[in-house]
Amino acid sequence: MTALLDDAERLGREELEVVQLERLRATLRHAYDHVPFYRTAFDKAGVRPDDCHTLADLSRFPFTVKGDLRDNYPFGMFAVPEDRIRRIHASSGTTGRPTVVGYTQRDLDTWADVVARSLRAAGARPGQKVHVAYGYGLFTGGLGAHYGAERLGCTVIPASGGMTARQVRLIQDFRPEIIMITPSYMLTLLDEFERQGIDPRSTSLRTGIFGAEPWTEEMRKEIEDRFAIDAVDIYGLSEVMGPGVAQECVETKDGLHIWEDHFYPEVVDPFTGEVLPDGEEGELVFTSLTKEAMPVIRYRTRDLTRLLPGTARTFRRMEKVTGRSDDMVILRGVNLFPTQIEEIVLRTPGVAPHFQLRLTRQGRLDVLTVRAEARGDATADERATAAEAIARAVKDGVGVSVGVEVVDPETLERSVGKIKRIVDLRSAGS
Ligand code: DLL
Repeated sequence: MTALLDDAERLGREELEVVQLERLRATLRHAYDHVPFYRTAFDKAGVRPDDCHTLADLSRFPFTVKGDLRDNYPFGMFAVPEDRIRRIHASSGTTGRPTVVGYTQRDLDTWADVVARSLRAAGARPGQKVHVAYGYGLFTGGLGAHYGAERLGCTVIPASGGMTARQVRLIQDFRPEIIMITPSYMLTLLDEFERQGIDPRSTSLRTGIFGAEPWTEEMRKEIEDRFAIDAVDIYGLSEVMGPGVAQECVETKDGLHIWEDHFYPEVVDPFTGEVLPDGEEGELVFTSLTKEAMPVIRYRTRDLTRLLPGTARTFRRMEKVTGRSDDMVILRGVNLFPTQIEEIVLRTPGVAPHFQLRLTRQGRLDVLTVRAEARGDATADERATAAEAIARAVKDGVGVSVGVEVVDPETLERSVGKIKRIVDLRSAGS
């Protein structure tokens, strides 16, 4: 097994921290010298790159938020001349300008290395076939997964997202061992296998590497049982790199090891910005340690999680992401995340793992309705029981009353990539 680890994966904690500090200092200097945005932000906060003597000193430096990237659209955050940029990706975002990110050749190499490392941790081996159903294009999922799988020595099937019937055909014909896909799209494939009369447990797939959206232990169980595969979690974001910032190891499935030799994590209180000790839940913040084209200093991901000690690797782990602060619904003073509803829906007999959260307004009150799909064989009584069970579990577990509608099978929109769980109809006047 150890022969399968990179040198960095074998570093002891102290050795790792020496590497991190050296890289952190170089990154702060690089950002300050080459990106006017960082120079201004550091000057305003009264800190200089040389003020960072320990890893803990990073907390003296200012945060970077998504809006800062938008304000510097398109290339204002780049720290190298434009002719050194080899690739550009962008995320569309819900409002206005996309967020643009750039990579030098060395950045692309680092990215392929960390994705190869992620695939290996997931159980993939050279010579295996990897079906990539993350979207190719400006989204980092497809190309990020692609070059990492090639770097590991796998055969890549660049299916991209969509054309679900064809995905099933390709899996049947090419017989990949590994699939990289969003968990919600995997459920869409599941339906399609069944529609074509193919037992999803009979495929060549052995491992699924799922990410780009939050998913729960209940979803892991559902996917593992219905496909007879190991389901592991991959995390990343374009601002920091793309997929491959952190990866769950197949032997432990206990949260995601952060590739800390390239990405330095902190967890902060989302309201005060104060750094929280490991083990406490808050907002994940990343500082890149080796990026050339677009270093990021204390980038606020808005993802909520906890940092935990290493297990299968010495690198620290992040717990499975609970949700994004943007996706948090506040209902009569109670915070609610789609993942909490996912846990409940997937535990409830009679309903399929497809659900949607509809937000409406009645008078001055926000109302949340969970729409869950009935399983094909569920009777009217079973549907009514399921609706009651979901409402009760939300009331008991989350502490708030919601409406529940159990709708007919195959009526909710299916995902072909990142799923949108919340349908906000509040401004529609409904
Ligand atoms: O989603 C990169 C990626 C592609 C990761 C494929 C994994 C697999 P963005 O489009 O920039 O990049 O979106 C990043 O997606 O801040 C999280 O909110 C969410 N996210 C990504 N991976 C996970 C995960 C890609 N494993 C945003 N669990 C992040 C929960 C995730 N949320």
